[in-house]
Amino acid sequence: MSRAPLVVGNQKLYLGPQDARDFARWLAGVAGDGSRAFDVAVCPSFIGLAGVCDVLRGTSVGCGAQNVHREASGAYTGQASIEELLELGIGYVIVGHSEVRSQLGETDGDVNAKVKMCLARDLTPIACVGETRADRDAGRSRDVIGTQVRALLAGVDAGAVGRLVIAYEPLWAIKSGLDDRDVTPATPEQAEDAHAFIRAVAAGLYDERAARAVRVIYGGSVDADNATGFLAQPSVDGLLIGSASVKRPSFARILESVQAQVGAGA
Ligand code: PGA
Repeated sequence: MSRAPLVVGNQKLYLGPQDARDFARWLAGVAGDGSRAFDVAVCPSFIGLAGVCDVLRGTSVGCGAQNVHREASGAYTGQASIEELLELGIGYVIVGHSEVRSQLGETDGDVNAKVKMCLARDLTPIACVGETRADRDAGRSRDVIGTQVRALLAGVDAGAVGRLVIAYEPLWAIKSGLDDRDVTPATPEQAEDAHAFIRAVAAGLYDERAARAVRVIYGGSVDADNATGFLAQPSVDGLLIGSASVKRPSFARILESVQAQVGAGA
């Protein structure tokens, strides 16, 4: 089994187009020469995407979108289509992020349609799942996660499963802003438990081989101090990082610690 670890910066609406381009230039300098033992990508806001993709073209840092509309074109005000994103040269699309689900009404059906659309166009979907605090307190975490995973994989061929990434992002662990100190991440053990469950759901739908090929990454209050604790877990294949990914010192420390860990054969 070899699943190259993946570290993704979800820049949300934190950086404007100029700042996002400057950040990408800096990132290409520290991580873009291809010497890393893991994959790195950043997902700027739509308005920053073209500039960031330009800067990252030809480097080993991937560029991704934070969402995509499920229709290829049409009367959809305020949206971005997969054709537009492909034209920019992106490699990844985040779908099903809890903020998009709750703020823009994205449904499990939308997530499934977007996953299949991305796979059909050779883009890597990063499909997010996760339970609320109320779900967890009520003992419903597995029901919620299992339902989301089965929905996003509906109609996806076994041969294509290994090309998608599932991000486990418990809603209760996601920061609400850059300076939010009140939210605490899942423990590495909680993440491991959810990731192993996600892989078991995939194994039930396909087989062990297909399930082993899916990368399952963790997101929610990841920072430079806790990143390697998650990655040390056998079922955690990478990280989806929000607030700590737009601060250069913290993102640099995360990348250094992941390199030390992965490079050491952890
Ligand atoms: P956070 O966000 O790292 O700021 O908690 C993660 C995410 O929402 O992807």
